[in-house]
Amino acid sequence: MNGDMMQVGRVIATENRPSTAYSFYFWAAADAKVGIGTLVYVKTEEREIYGVVVEGEGYTDLASALHDYIAAEGDPVSEPATIRPEIRCYQAAVLRVEPEEPLQPVPVGPVYLADDAAVSRALRMDVFQQTSGIPVGLYQNGDLLSPVYLDADFVLGTEAAHLNLTGISGLATKTSAIEFIISSIFAHYDKSVAVVCFNVKGSDLLFLDFPAEVPDDHSLAEAYRAKGIPKLTDRDREMYMRLGVPMEPFSNVKYYAPFKRDHVNLNTLRTHPDLVHNVHPLAWGLKDVIKYAQVVLNRDDVDAKADALIEYINQRVLDKTTDVGDEKFTVRNFADLARWFDAVLKVMERDNRSEWQTHHYATIRKIYNRLNNLVSRYEGLISPDETNGDLPWGAFEDRAVYVVDVANLDQQAQDLVFARVVTELREQLERRELGVDHVIVVVDELNKYAPSDGSETYLKQTLLDISERGRYLGLVLFSAQQFRSQVHKRIVGNSATCIYGRMDMDELATPGYQVLTAATKEKLATLSKGQLMLRHPHFSHPIFVKFPRPNVLRGPDGVNLFPPSQDLPLDEAVFHRLSDLDRGITREQIRAVVADASDNEEVVRAMNLTLQKRPDDPLDYFRRAIRKKAHTDVVQPSAQSIVNVHTPDPDDPFAD
Ligand SMILES: Nc1ncnc2c1ncn2[C@@H]1O[C@H](COP(=O)(O)OP(=O)(O)O)[C@@H](O)[C@H]1O
Ligand SMILES: [Mg+2]
Repeated sequence: MNGDMMQVGRVIATENRPSTAYSFYFWAAADAKVGIGTLVYVKTEEREIYGVVVEGEGYTDLASALHDYIAAEGDPVSEPATIRPEIRCYQAAVLRVEPEEPLQPVPVGPVYLADDAAVSRALRMDVFQQTSGIPVGLYQNGDLLSPVYLDADFVLGTEAAHLNLTGISGLATKTSAIEFIISSIFAHYDKSVAVVCFNVKGSDLLFLDFPAEVPDDHSLAEAYRAKGIPKLTDRDREMYMRLGVPMEPFSNVKYYAPFKRDHVNLNTLRTHPDLVHNVHPLAWGLKDVIKYAQVVLNRDDVDAKADALIEYINQRVLDKTTDVGDEKFTVRNFADLARWFDAVLKVMERDNRSEWQTHHYATIRKIYNRLNNLVSRYEGLISPDETNGDLPWGAFEDRAVYVVDVANLDQQAQDLVFARVVTELREQLERRELGVDHVIVVVDELNKYAPSDGSETYLKQTLLDISERGRYLGLVLFSAQQFRSQVHKRIVGNSATCIYGRMDMDELATPGYQVLTAATKEKLATLSKGQLMLRHPHFSHPIFVKFPRPNVLRGPDGVNLFPPSQDLPLDEAVFHRLSDLDRGITREQIRAVVADASDNEEVVRAMNLTLQKRPDDPLDYFRRAIRKKAHTDVVQPSAQSIVNVHTPDPDDPFAD
């Protein structure tokens, strides 16, 4: 700190308002740039005390309102006879004291406005700024903008981890803040890190690879203008410069979405032809799902007996060739499994046996029904055949963003997606096989997925597990919600960094905010877009910062600019998918084959088989895959919808 230290006031300590070790009062000139959230410091010969203004009052020597009324003779527009001195008095909470010992009440002395260096010391950023600082925003004081850093060791582990944001939808800029902080982490963190975002709402996170604004000579410039997509401001640009974060969208983004019911069109809003090159199907088969029997089957269904049967199938049947009666079965997918079950039940009935390898008939029948139903219950996500579409397990890329679009899935399917993705992440991170050291999992609407009340879902358990143990593995949760008070306590409690945008007054009245002064709450309720309050382990009090609008196309603008395409008819979809294997294939060829097929499911099955086998001549393979089914009775390894394989028994007490 040098000669241009800006003194704005003096500490006052009276018997009524004494200084303590954690709080002090000072007065400041009426025109001083001091307000709630301002960082100040007191400097005496021996000590330096840094503080943040948390409350303020102004008053004059007027003893009673009546005195003023009488002096003005009841006329509000009359000139006052005397100009009364007016004082602005502020309360500051202590952030840091140097030297730390002995810890004493704040001494009386001059009060200065914090400059860059003082901001850094006040927030203890001098300790970590160079080594693990992640710029999160700018502390603004008058014309001064000072960067504020989070400590990566406390955001991404291992000292602490996780980040949670709260505030009103559309005003708190929660999603934007997450995007900005991730950009900043990508620019400043020195270890490898990838992001998995669950898109839970409409088009929120579906255009992360497009900028909010394009240069005037860009091919999309006219389209952006026509749609009235707002540009970033000069103020935004300045903030990016000051924070050292590149003003760019994410360069490596991959999108994943399940199929719709037709098993060919993807269930997402990112279906514009120009954008589908990095949208991949999320389709899981038997092997992917059987591990999650606890999630996909009703909790009450999975008793010890059912568990034992599932375990048996997992270890002895799946991917193995086994004998049932005189037949041999190789079970690779749901359709195979249905046939295996059918055969087992038939043999048991024929021989009048009540047990099969120690498993009871009723248990087998029940689990058969449950597993059999999964394909139709999770239509589009679980495939009867071996179609597989998944995140790139084992090959995650540094600085890549993987967006999993679950916005159009129902709750139970979302549950399965979250549970499986997070479990795989955890297991691969544990074995150091994922390809990156750290993964940030982004979950919005946390109060819906992990409410403080309500039933114990698998998903809630998974989120709890990340927040309690994730940091040791490098698995980090970035979550957001409107109402923090409605989220499971241990999840928000484990979040080392908490950020607040514009808040709802009712929410501020809940017990969680009692530690804040009335003035701080008032400020929180009136924050403008791009303003945040931060709580971070190094800061002993919450700090207010501003951040620039992310240079990422907002969801609604993206949909406007790239309207989702109509669902493709089956032959067109097949043409598109098979063209990926062989550019020489024509529409007419595909159409002819499709017209020849017995039904649509058959076409989908043959297409998936072709995509999976990647033969040298895809068209020929596809044609033959269909013909065989249409003209012979030979059972294919993956027959048509397994739902039809077994005709439900109307007397079955366990049927759904
Ligand atoms: N730093 C910022 N400054 C100004 N406006 C912003 C900023 N960040 C985001 N916005 C705008 O605020 C609106 C809401 O942002 P969003 O991140 O979607 O909020 P939330 O997720 O809390 O609903 C968007 O229109 C966005 O463009
Ligand atoms: Mg949002």
